[in-house]
Amino acid sequence: MTLAQALATASKLGLDRLDAQLLLLYALGRDNSHRVWLLAHDKDPLPPANEAAFVALAQRRAAGEPLAYLTGHKEFHGLDLHVDPRVLIPRPDTETLVDWTLDLLAHTLHAQVIDLGTGSGAIALALKHARPDFEVDAIDASADALEVAQANTQRLHLKVQLQCGSWLQGVSGRFHAIVSNPPYIASHDSHLAALTHEPQQALTSGPDGLDDLRQIIAQAPTYLYPGGWLLLEHGYDQAKPVRELLRDAGFVEVLSRRDLAGVERCSGGRLPTGATSKITEHLRNLMPNTTPACPQCTLLNTYPDGDNLVCADCGHEWSKSAPTPDKGDDDSAVVRDANGQVLADGDAVVLIKDLKVKGSSITLKMGTKVKSIRLCGGDHEVDCKMDAGSFMLKACFLRKA
Ligand SMILES: C[S@@+](CC[C@H](N)C(=O)[O-])C[C@H]1O[C@@H](n2cnc3c(N)ncnc32)[C@H](O)[C@@H]1O
Repeated sequence: MTLAQALATASKLGLDRLDAQLLLLYALGRDNSHRVWLLAHDKDPLPPANEAAFVALAQRRAAGEPLAYLTGHKEFHGLDLHVDPRVLIPRPDTETLVDWTLDLLAHTLHAQVIDLGTGSGAIALALKHARPDFEVDAIDASADALEVAQANTQRLHLKVQLQCGSWLQGVSGRFHAIVSNPPYIASHDSHLAALTHEPQQALTSGPDGLDDLRQIIAQAPTYLYPGGWLLLEHGYDQAKPVRELLRDAGFVEVLSRRDLAGVERCSGGRLPTGATSKITEHLRNLMPNTTPACPQCTLLNTYPDGDNLVCADCGHEWSKSAPTPDKGDDDSAVVRDANGQVLADGDAVVLIKDLKVKGSSITLKMGTKVKSIRLCGGDHEVDCKMDAGSFMLKACFLRKA
């Protein structure tokens, strides 16, 4: 049998030309870039051992097995990922989520990002590959999937911290972005019939497909820095309900992004920063010469480091030339001491002499080291009485409680 005859056999089995060519190259031990070679050598004989392997693969493909499981490879965002039936095959649509994350964090250096439901590791690895300065974590509830992700991180020499868990439960720390392509197909959706080869726990999520998205949206605010992003992939008809869930959970700047087919494929929002709250403005009026507020957490405890500015509170690092971020409009607060202990409902990072929140006055002794002031509640009155000569503003951290 020649190579041309092998392709004709696959065509008779119902395979499209591209799948047949890629399977033939795989059976010959050649990679996908050799398609031109295949055309130039279509009269070459196919050795019997390769012929048997090719025919078996073509039959499995004709029976519906995905090409990526047969070859064990899938290209995603320029990376060659190993995949097998333990993980969902990464889809080109999901590159929309990766590109969106990279756009939003374009000016954030050393961003801490977590990928929930990482499967093969596709999103986490694509982010780490594009931005080696990011600290990327990835979670999956499936130990099998994590083995595949682990093998991909090692093969690609990309450092991603993998852990087994259910969404954000048990995760420590905060992130500049939480990204996820969770299961989102309704449990009785007719599209599932075409997806029987892929792991069901990667696909379905309750009667309306939104169970996991609801859980992630509910958990995320606790794990984001103020100003941090939650970015989610969802079904073609789920953008509106996901935007509503995000707004209901207190996210601002809620948006959706379209994939290459023009479908609203991802939605996301930002945890409010409170950058324009009354207390921040008041403190900044008192301290006109402080460094700029951190665009991530809005604290004022920033210092220059070469061409960059660094936030001493959340560790966010950004270029001095980065554009000023949009300001949120949220006032809320709590007073913590240097150990993070809450001193009062409403707080500050200052050596403050006298802080009045909601009519009750909190007096902090001069020299008290307070880590942050967070004012809680939308309608409070904030009255900071500070002796400008004797206090040192460290930071002001405002977000909704
Ligand atoms: C749609 S797949 C996405 C895989 C990969 N991120 C991608 O885009 O190709 C969803 C993933 O979420 C994982 N998953 C399902 N429930 C989970 C849970 N409660 N916590 C963490 N991961 C979960 C599944 O094992 C699966 O790997």
